[in-house]
Amino acid sequence: MIEKLELRNTDSLVDLGCGTGMYSLDIIKQVQLRKVIAVDPYPEMLKQIPEDTDSNIHTVVSDALSFSKRPGIYDKILIKEAVHHIPEREKLFNCLFNRLRKGGILLLVHVPPEVKYPLFQKALDRCKEWHADTDELLEQLENTDFQVEQDFIDYTHSIPKQKYFAMVKSCYMSALTSLGEQEIINGLIEMEKKYKDTKSLEFVDHFDYLKAVK
Ligand SMILES: C[S@@+](CC[C@H](N)C(=O)[O-])C[C@H]1O[C@@H](n2cnc3c(N)ncnc32)[C@H](O)[C@@H]1O
Repeated sequence: MIEKLELRNTDSLVDLGCGTGMYSLDIIKQVQLRKVIAVDPYPEMLKQIPEDTDSNIHTVVSDALSFSKRPGIYDKILIKEAVHHIPEREKLFNCLFNRLRKGGILLLVHVPPEVKYPLFQKALDRCKEWHADTDELLEQLENTDFQVEQDFIDYTHSIPKQKYFAMVKSCYMSALTSLGEQEIINGLIEMEKKYKDTKSLEFVDHFDYLKAVK
């Protein structure tokens, strides 16, 4: 993400849909930035970002679209695994185009609809409608006059089965939170049968990267 955003120490970075800010916090350990604006609609997420004046992280409680309409010019914008929460994407990209200086970069990092996670079938089906489609995002960004480069990264996990099952039980992905309690229980039974002879689950996490340059 640091490479794709071409981060340098004069940059202001907006982390849109930042959650607990874990990626911004890690980024500023590696690159000094002029300013980071961490935006999320949920104050309870932002509260987990340490208030440290040295880090230059400013938190803003706002949804992405409202923030994108506020005046301000930034060098770089990161949307990591949050774009699927914003239905009006074309509008969002148009507004973000206006928030970037010329040559500024918007980086989308997201998990596409087809996932290779060892989940139960209903959850896999839910991901197909829950996650944003990369080709559609690409087209929407290009329609907004961004110059777009596409890339991806595959990361292989190896997780003890019981640990992964506990993650599923606690709805570690937002697609799971959209299912009912009983659907999760039934899903875990399905997974228990499917992986009965397995101790550790190995699977690939695929992230699409769309780098949009103004
Ligand atoms: C899967 S988390 C990703 C958080 C962070 N970017 C990361 O990668 O750790 C999705 C985030 O999007 C936020 N979100 C939900 N709806 C949003 C919206 N309309 N605008 C901006 N962020 C939103 C959630 O609060 C959550 O923090």
